Amino acid sequence: MNVLSIVSECAPFAKTGGLADVAGALAKALGPAGLTPMTLMPLYPALKPIAEKAKPVARFDELMGGPAKVLQVRASGVDLLLLDAPHLFDRPGHIYLDASGKDWSDNHLRYGALCKAGAEIAMGLIPDWTPDVVHAHDWQAGLVPLYLRQAGSDVPVMITIHNIAFQGIFPPSVMAPLGLSASRFTLDGFEYWEKVSFLKAGLVYADHITTVSPTYAHELLTPEFGMGFEGVLGARSDRLSGILNGIDVEDWDPATDPRIAANYSTRSKKGKAKNRKALAEAFGVDVPDKGPLFGVVSRLTAQKGLDLMVEAAPHLLARGGNLVVLGSGDKALERAFADLATAYPDRVGFDTRFDEGLAHQLQAGSDVMLVPSRFEPCGLTQLCALRYGTIPLVSLTGGLADTVINANPAALDAGCATGFQFAPVTTGALIHALDRCFDAYADRDIWKRLVSNAMAQDVSWTTSAAHYVALYQELAQPA
Ligand code: ADP
Ligand code: GLC
Repeated sequence: MNVLSIVSECAPFAKTGGLADVAGALAKALGPAGLTPMTLMPLYPALKPIAEKAKPVARFDELMGGPAKVLQVRASGVDLLLLDAPHLFDRPGHIYLDASGKDWSDNHLRYGALCKAGAEIAMGLIPDWTPDVVHAHDWQAGLVPLYLRQAGSDVPVMITIHNIAFQGIFPPSVMAPLGLSASRFTLDGFEYWEKVSFLKAGLVYADHITTVSPTYAHELLTPEFGMGFEGVLGARSDRLSGILNGIDVEDWDPATDPRIAANYSTRSKKGKAKNRKALAEAFGVDVPDKGPLFGVVSRLTAQKGLDLMVEAAPHLLARGGNLVVLGSGDKALERAFADLATAYPDRVGFDTRFDEGLAHQLQAGSDVMLVPSRFEPCGLTQLCALRYGTIPLVSLTGGLADTVINANPAALDAGCATGFQFAPVTTGALIHALDRCFDAYADRDIWKRLVSNAMAQDVSWTTSAAHYVALYQELAQPA
């Protein structure tokens, strides 16, 4: 079965967050499951070296303001279709943001073009490869089902919501340049409060909707988490399901990871201590004698709840923990972590780079990974942490609720606890969880068990890829 995945970022080629990880790792997992996946993404400047080896398979004389081509190439185990539209994608810097940090003013055309190209490929643009199912990801691919239905095509298409906070909302004036039919600009079409929403188009016209964890699928139906889309999703709840993300367990393998100071495994964990020392050195912090080394690898946004971590930091330090943070985004949060690092130079380290190697080193060297998110569709850093024997301390929401087993007395007795969860998402509850974590860390037997349980958890794509395959099959051959 041929599956066309349409996505705005895909690791290791272009990445701003977990969407890229999922697009890359899921594509790699589908081949061994017997499918032929193809991933359509924009040709950003970072992909130019890869594009040199690619072969042109289709062309557009005009696509949202200029000529474009589709190039095909296999790289890093992923079969790619690259949308080569220099007028839209050949620009330096961040893939979504201009130099001033604002969304590129033509993002509707950039991702409209991606959707249009995806729909045309689904309808046979590349003669020797047509998909049986189309899989659109997030708002950037939200117009794909709409373009297909507008053209009268019934190719099965599903959309995955990686984060409902990103809704692709634009003024109605974008309809004409995007070629959207005004007759569908209605409450039960793609109109959202008198604006155009790419995401709503996807949710209304796709045959199936998934999101990246079962708990988030439930949460999305509530006003608190649905962010205005709870009604649209409620109307389609029979076609909404949650499939948990996995991680690429080859890329994230402490036994072979070339980016970390020393390799280690479930059988021999000695190397973890060396990674801890190397990480502390890299961030210029002391290795705490009695307390754990806490790590954060994250976008710094309100979603991630790290403002609570800033508030809880004095408590964490008073109890003997140290902290290393890798992340960037919100300027106030960046300042707050920079101030902490200045105030406690030997105890808090902070780096704003986006650096894959450092992310691996942080996972390998930390004792605890902090993820205090206000909402978290799935979250990948807690999965990487489990694999690296780094104990996740997370809020009880979305995928964090589905992937961490809270170390309460019953779970500890049963030998299945893998981390710490807290609710509600308040500084008080976070501090309480930190206290539980410090107590557990002080008991070497309990901690060893937690680390072993964490490393034994299956965080691969195997189970989840099978769920996607079953869904693709159901969509391709409806009963
Ligand atoms: P989200 O997609 O909401 O940002 P996820 O937990 O799903 O959250 O995925 C985040 C991904 O981005 C992980 O692979 C994480 O390691 C990576 N990441 C976040 N910040 C950085 C950074 N500063 N440097 C390197 N990798 C980062
Ligand atoms: C989003 C979510 C994150 C999820 C990722 C991949 O960016 O914020 O929770 O893990 O997508 O699905």
